[in-house]
Amino acid sequence: MTKTTIAAAALSLAFATLPAAAADLAAGAAKAKEVCAACHGMDGNASQPEYPRLGGQHEDYLAKALRDYKSGARKNPVMAAFAKPLSKQDIENLAAHYARQARVVTAKY
Ligand code: HEC
Repeated sequence: MTKTTIAAAALSLAFATLPAAAADLAAGAAKAKEVCAACHGMDGNASQPEYPRLGGQHEDYLAKALRDYKSGARKNPVMAAFAKPLSKQDIENLAAHYARQARVVTAKY
């Protein structure tokens, strides 16, 4: 094997271990505006207490929650309806968008 082949093999191995696709923040923001903002707000910090705050939440937590609503592992009729049509890429984009918003902390009691 030549040095070039070794380098090429190492490179393709590196790419193979990368996640399928990087999140697209602009697409995440567009989707959030189109679908989610009505309840969660654009920054994920809805003032209505029945809508959980998404702003600044961990990206992997948000993505898992959306995958679970989509699969039915997490049951909520409202979120199931909104998560069902999301693609894997939509989920990554939305999770990245909301994870990058400011976290708002309020005291409940
Ligand atoms: C009609 C209002 C509504 C819309 C629109 C909506 N959601 Fe939700 N969302 C809710 C409610 C209510 C819950 C709480 C459900 C539960 O108890 O599991 C929730 C929960 C969530 C959670 C879980 C939060 C946590 O802390 O575990 C995530 C993530 C989420 N929504 C993301 C989204 C995204 C992304 C969209 C757009 C694709 C969206 N939601 C659209 C009402 C909505």
